[in-house]
Amino acid sequence: MGHILSAEQFDPNSLNDIFERTYELANLDRRELIDRHIGSQLITFFYASSTRTRISFELAARSMGVGVTSVPDAEDTSSVFKGETIEDTARVLNNYEADIVVMRTKVEGDTAKAAAASDYTSIINGGDGSGEHPTQALLDAYTIQDEFGGLDGLNIVFGGDLRRGRTVRSLTKLLANFGGNQFKFVSIPELQIGQDIKNRLDEHDIEYEETTDKLSALSDADVVYWTRLQSERPIPGVEITEEIINQFKIDAAAMEVMPHEAIVMHPLPRDSKHNEIDTAIDHDPRIKMFDQAGNGKLVRAALIDMILSEEL
Ligand code: NCD
Repeated sequence: MGHILSAEQFDPNSLNDIFERTYELANLDRRELIDRHIGSQLITFFYASSTRTRISFELAARSMGVGVTSVPDAEDTSSVFKGETIEDTARVLNNYEADIVVMRTKVEGDTAKAAAASDYTSIINGGDGSGEHPTQALLDAYTIQDEFGGLDGLNIVFGGDLRRGRTVRSLTKLLANFGGNQFKFVSIPELQIGQDIKNRLDEHDIEYEETTDKLSALSDADVVYWTRLQSERPIPGVEITEEIINQFKIDAAAMEVMPHEAIVMHPLPRDSKHNEIDTAIDHDPRIKMFDQAGNGKLVRAALIDMILSEEL
């Protein structure tokens, strides 16, 4: 019973094992995979909306013969509606002998509460409020490794809503374990990366800079990791104007200053109102966000495989 709750759990060795398994499974024929875990059971129990995380976990599980039960709107359709706690929910799913429960919660720390109440079932944090999204960090790291052959010595520029977005929080925690990377955080001060992340980078002697100068940050980037405005989590007193939204877009002018071998990542969804990665540049070969999303299914298959084989 291994839980995946935080990106801090993974070091270069465990990451290497996960990526090796990912390559291995990705190269198997569908028919070779389909009876790999027959009889195992995975539940997706989501208190908050999702497209990629839930569907990629479910498809990955089914591709290996795992039975899948899907609860996509837990706040409306499960006993959460009647006031049941996440701990009681976890206890019941344990007694049903669910092997893995992937959970997405609105509140930071809630998936850890479910894990504390689980003695059989492995809990996977599929995103907890503005806390973490560890499996997204794993697929992001896989995407970077796949492009650059390693996870060190890179200039990585993170931009957008760094305060409320959990994906950058998890990815920076993960990459803090690797040497020689330089981070630049591009945003307005009100949406800058949290102090807890900066503390972690300091502890690991990682160089980082906070800036509003997007074009200068992009000019020597290897990886550009952009994020949407998390409008569903309002910050009292902070108003984001159209002008700010336009200032922090990745558009043709941004691509112009970016090195030719750089890659642009985004965890998706892209917000169609803001177009933080301008749809006009989708054809640029440096835009990798849809490949990145595709990698999610492959990496999650490896995680399921390793948990069910008691290797995680
Ligand atoms: C992200 C999330 O849910 O944190 N999406 C995802 O899982 N790929 C990003 C976001 O919602 O902005």
